Amino acid sequence: MTRIVSTHSYRGGTGKSTITANLAYLLASEGARVGVVDTDILSPGIHVLFGMEPGSAHYTLNDYLWGRCTIDQAAVDVTAGAFPDGAPKGGSIHLLPSSMQTGEIARVLKEGFEVDLLNEGFHTLSQRLSLDYLLIDTHPGVNEETLLSIAISDTLLLVLRPDHQDYQGTAVTLELARRLDVPQLLLLVNKVLPAFDRRELSDRVSTVFRTPVAAVLPLNEDLVRLGSSGLLAALTPKNDYVSALRPVAQLVQA
Ligand SMILES: Nc1ncnc2c1ncn2[C@@H]1O[C@H](COP(=O)(O)OP(=O)(O)OP(=O)(O)O)[C@@H](O)[C@H]1O
Ligand SMILES: [Mg+2]
Repeated sequence: MTRIVSTHSYRGGTGKSTITANLAYLLASEGARVGVVDTDILSPGIHVLFGMEPGSAHYTLNDYLWGRCTIDQAAVDVTAGAFPDGAPKGGSIHLLPSSMQTGEIARVLKEGFEVDLLNEGFHTLSQRLSLDYLLIDTHPGVNEETLLSIAISDTLLLVLRPDHQDYQGTAVTLELARRLDVPQLLLLVNKVLPAFDRRELSDRVSTVFRTPVAAVLPLNEDLVRLGSSGLLAALTPKNDYVSALRPVAQLVQA
């Protein structure tokens, strides 16, 4: 069985794509077969963390949604780039990018797409690639494909910053996720000043939202420096941010 893990936040720029990409790496490091889907069709980006140039993908999620290819034809094996010295036994990462072409993005805005096709595609992809995990990187806020991703998830990772706008939005999304009966709901607090008491913040956030906090991730200079140009977990495995994220890879396991 494939475990479906969605990463979401009410507001943008909270660190979803960075978390999803590094989590994919950590899970694959332990020998898992991991799929990563970019459902942020309106502003795709996670491919950048895997070193993919725009336009280099033969097919994208958009092609699948418009019936131009099968879902597995749009998946790109990015394992070699993530593990230049060789992947651990059994471990692999398969990325399903969204199109960066303006015309394709405009078409989604203008025509929308059949959301059911996404659901069908996720299941087909999971089966054809024998995935242990399917990680779904989402568009911020609440829209139809986000609701679908949340509804079909075994785990929802809800990312927030220590920011009052994020707090309010998180309450909204949590309520939605509860109504959709997501089996595992976890909060991740990101971009926390290293001077903050992380234990205290974690206790406070979990009490206020009545939801477990899986990680409190520090605001990290190396990530700023990297500017999404790679996977921090691969480059500096002992980095603070990576150490704080590592337990999440354990928590999402069945
Ligand atoms: N803990 C952190 N410390 C410092 N910078 C971070 C941290 N987490 C993420 N970033 C940076 O913040 C920016 C936004 O991160 P990312 O793209 O992962 O957010 P996102 O939630 O996916 O954004 P969007 O909502 O636009 O999809 C990136 O430049 C990333 O490198
Ligand atoms: Mg993103």
